Amino acid sequence: MDTKTWYMNPTMQVQLTLMGSEAVKEIFGHWVSPKTIFTGRLGATVFAVFVSFLRERKRAFILSDKVVERHAKTVAEHLHEYGFETRIWNGAVPEPPISLAEGCSREMAKFEPDLIVAVGGGSTMDLAKAAWILYELPGYDLKAVGPLIPLGLRKKALLVAYPTTSGTGSEVTWASILTDDAVSPPMKIEIISMEIVPDFAILLPEFTLGMPPKITAGTGLDALAHAVDAYLSSYDNDISDALAIKSTNLILKFLPRAYRGPNDREARYRMQMAATMAGLAFGNSQAALTHSLGHAVGKVFGIHHGVAVGIFIPYSIQYYSKASDKYVQLAREIGIETRDKVECLEKLVAKFQEFLLSFEVPYALKEHGITEEEWEKNLGVVAKHALEDACTFASPRPTSLTDIKKILEHAYKGEGIDF
Ligand SMILES: [Fe+2]
Repeated sequence: MDTKTWYMNPTMQVQLTLMGSEAVKEIFGHWVSPKTIFTGRLGATVFAVFVSFLRERKRAFILSDKVVERHAKTVAEHLHEYGFETRIWNGAVPEPPISLAEGCSREMAKFEPDLIVAVGGGSTMDLAKAAWILYELPGYDLKAVGPLIPLGLRKKALLVAYPTTSGTGSEVTWASILTDDAVSPPMKIEIISMEIVPDFAILLPEFTLGMPPKITAGTGLDALAHAVDAYLSSYDNDISDALAIKSTNLILKFLPRAYRGPNDREARYRMQMAATMAGLAFGNSQAALTHSLGHAVGKVFGIHHGVAVGIFIPYSIQYYSKASDKYVQLAREIGIETRDKVECLEKLVAKFQEFLLSFEVPYALKEHGITEEEWEKNLGVVAKHALEDACTFASPRPTSLTDIKKILEHAYKGEGIDF
């Protein structure tokens, strides 16, 4: 069985690298987003009215997990008011395996929905995207799904996403992160297609009220990494830039409030907007090294995705700074005043380091319970996974296994990147 995904093909890797050049951006670009993003309770009602006109058979298959099933029930009740029959499937799990997507698609096929609804965090939304592909195209090889390969979805159903965290941005992105459980050890894979962007995203701050501080911080740092990387990525563009900056500023202001006050409604509302904006930004200009390094470290050492990618924000900025001055604009946009570039980089990095520490997230990996022995034993495999990660192609500074290893070594000790 072929264990490689589309981005592991060397020809594709050359194309991915070239697509980050300014010359190519002028002749090829595309922007993906849902048709409509509705916000708030009234927005959710307007959505239900619209979708009841759009769907003839009115059969909604709702994916969720056991933790947020109550929100799935709220969505189901709402859809009932507008003539839908619903089925709730609560089997979503973190880092969903391909086999679960296959099982879920078989459940969908039994119910024959014309609307698929994801109510949950990033994993649930990612699972919904994958299961939807298999519902529309039974037997399709998910690893063959590529960014510009036509699939012909939406012949059976539309997809709508109600995020219950403020972080992943999956409600507006064209990616689905899954685990390939047909290989040993199981491997994280990313499937990307313009067609798997949800048709609608519904942002209800009520669904994020009461989120525990740790999850609030982790998911919020994920959104921050999306925004910062989207701004600094080699695939950056003017539309993404605007969203990334606004999102970064909202997160810097409102994440501390949401962290301290789980029921602070305004902070929750702003964090939902910020996470979705960051999702639109990185969905279109990609996350870079924060994510390839964070994915690899998180997977091997069991660190929460948002925390793992958040830790790499300061290191990535330092590493990129040798190839691009765009960090100077980022600093200016978030209100950092400096006399020269050296001071600018120092202040910018310190700002993000302090921000991490304010959520009790040390930026030195060794302070996350990773012993030196474990670190040394796994460094090689972590570096290899990071280099092979799809996000690495979006780094504004072309990288190598040697550099990745050096960044990781510095991050373990909490030392600045000076090369
Ligand atoms: Fe992320």
